[in-house]
Amino acid sequence: MTGPSPVSSPRKRGEGRAPSAAGFVAAVVRPEIRALSAYAVARAEGMIKLDAMENPYPLPAGVRTRLSEALARVPINRYPDGGAHAAKGALRRVFSIPVDQDLLLANGSDELIQIITSALACPGAAMLVPEPSFVMYRMNALYAGMRFIGVPLGDDFRLDRAAMLAAIERERPALVYLAYPNNPTGNLFAASDVEAVLRAAPGLVVVDEAYYAFADASFLPRVAEFANLLVLRTVSKVGMAGIRLGYAVAAPEWIAELNKVRQPYNVNALTQAAAEALLTDTGWIAEQAAAIRTGRARIETELKRLPGTTVFPTQTNFVLVRVTDANEMFEGLKARCILVKNLHGWHPLLANCLRITVGTTEENDLLLAALNELNR
Ligand SMILES: Cc1ncc(COP(=O)(O)O)c(C=O)c1O
Repeated sequence: MTGPSPVSSPRKRGEGRAPSAAGFVAAVVRPEIRALSAYAVARAEGMIKLDAMENPYPLPAGVRTRLSEALARVPINRYPDGGAHAAKGALRRVFSIPVDQDLLLANGSDELIQIITSALACPGAAMLVPEPSFVMYRMNALYAGMRFIGVPLGDDFRLDRAAMLAAIERERPALVYLAYPNNPTGNLFAASDVEAVLRAAPGLVVVDEAYYAFADASFLPRVAEFANLLVLRTVSKVGMAGIRLGYAVAAPEWIAELNKVRQPYNVNALTQAAAEALLTDTGWIAEQAAAIRTGRARIETELKRLPGTTVFPTQTNFVLVRVTDANEMFEGLKARCILVKNLHGWHPLLANCLRITVGTTEENDLLLAALNELNR
């Protein structure tokens, strides 16, 4: 029995030539995927890299030695521990993960966003996100076929509680993402607004604490208080972006379901061993985070002195600043080998905004000198 094919043939009737790859692509790749551009990572050779919220400091020498010894011992011929037990133990110990909560690890919190979204996506299900926020939430809604509901942030990038609650009531989202603090705006939403969302939401609320190390508040100790709360974390912003390790903390019932969506060996053996070795002592993480906070305060103070700039409050390792002409400033910095993120055109609320990651003291000096020069 033959029925109509669900896929339009890339081979046109009567055409003798073999179909092209483009023909096959047009026939089977989803139009919304074809319409996308792949996530662009700027080339940064020879540049002062202040565009990606990395920790600018290298590992201290002792930690580097411990890391290289640990990596040399990894049995690379074997698959990794699928449960990543030792790495989980290290994370639990170091980041005070509540004992009654479960943990899921992944290849960066990016992968956790993918796992969570695909587990909750079903026809008609909605993802609700205040905007502007981390772009990967929207992208993952698109990949998984979830309805994406963006709710504009209020004045000073505050969570618009009334608009969020109205959207929750109207759309009944299966999933809400709140970046706490928010990227790219840098601010920390009021805890009372986050609590209101948690109480009203009919599904999972992910509080994404990628920047917890630079913020004055966290929902991690409060996971048990809300049955629908998952706290997402990453080691990327505290000096370990290269190992790609993110972790999710939630009630065992949530983690058990998400674990079914995870690829069996998603965290590779080198990353697991590196996490254990790097987290043996964490003084270096605290010291580097403190240095970044100091650098951030200096950048904020100096930027506020520049005429025509608005500096937004930040609890992250970056500063969001509105300038007179972001494109011109971005190009001027680039010409001086300083790479920042130009957010102009991303969202109406980000008009003429630049996102500047805090660098080392020397990098911050160069940045501030360049900004002063460009403002003359
Ligand atoms: C809010 C937020 N969540 C998650 C991520 C992704 O982090 P990871 O490096 O763990 O994939 C980022 C990265 O910039 C981020 O800003």
